[in-house]
Amino acid sequence: MSKIKKALERLKSESQLKEIKEEKAERKEAISEKLEKIVYTKTKVIHVDPEKLKENKIVAIDEEDPLTDQFKVLRTRILNRTRAEGKKTIQVSGFGIDEGKSIIASNLAIAMAKETRQTTLLVDLDLRNPSIHKLFCLGDVKGLKDYFEKGVPLEELFINPGIPKFTILPAGGKIIGAPEILGSPKMETMVKELRERYPDRYIIFDTPGMNICPDPLIVSEYMDAILLVARVGVTDQDAIKSVMKIVPKEKLLGIVLNDFIWADEIMSYYKYRYKYYL
Ligand SMILES: Nc1ncnc2c1ncn2[C@@H]1O[C@H](COP(=O)(O)OP(=O)(O)OP(=O)(O)O)[C@@H](O)[C@H]1O
Ligand SMILES: [Mg+2]
Repeated sequence: MSKIKKALERLKSESQLKEIKEEKAERKEAISEKLEKIVYTKTKVIHVDPEKLKENKIVAIDEEDPLTDQFKVLRTRILNRTRAEGKKTIQVSGFGIDEGKSIIASNLAIAMAKETRQTTLLVDLDLRNPSIHKLFCLGDVKGLKDYFEKGVPLEELFINPGIPKFTILPAGGKIIGAPEILGSPKMETMVKELRERYPDRYIIFDTPGMNICPDPLIVSEYMDAILLVARVGVTDQDAIKSVMKIVPKEKLLGIVLNDFIWADEIMSYYKYRYKYYL
């Protein structure tokens, strides 16, 4: 091939590349515009006082809170690890109780909703000890219990707590016989429906600790990825060892260490921080 011909070919492929890039950028813009314009027609909106949310450690709503940036770092790491592979369903679990799983799942879900390219749904899948409705001050709302036990359609159960691009699917009360329900075909249908309803949506499932009951392991089968939460002074080494034997490793994104204080910050202003192993 002559030099001129080669140069022309290169120019052609460069301009094609430019076009593709521009087209991608336009598409991205169109998606974020579309997402920003979401108006919740069917979804029930409950406007929650931001101060009450912050009291419950739902801090990611506040751009000025120093922890918001930490949740954005966690969000970015998770998006980098999942987006290209189309992974959308993320289970948050841990090792025992009181490790901050629900708080971290909630803040992560809000931080993800703030990123322009997707919406987020937070599902309370701790059917033995649901807490998301309490953290978001929603009162006694309907939820998955009504879906599983009474056949109430999912679209009647979603709640937007006044945070853009963010919806909650509450548990709606404790469910007896959770392992059977979680392992049932109806559960599989539910996850499929949630996953397929909106392609631009990440779904964060808050679940109990892996050593507490069989529920989180049953649920892990339907999930694309798993994030574990350990808490300094709460989670012990034996608990970590036994969970690492059972958790599906290929799905594990990493571990968030909650309540971690850097040695040089023990006396500092921040009461708690997060450290990530992912
Ligand atoms: N980093 C932290 N600093 C101070 N308090 C915290 C921290 N993380 C969690 N907590 C407190 O610990 C309690 C448990 O938090 P959370 O409900 O998020 O934990 P969990 O792991 O989901 O619990 P469960 O095992 O019951 O589902 C709450 O009272 C919460 O405010
Ligand atoms: Mg919890």
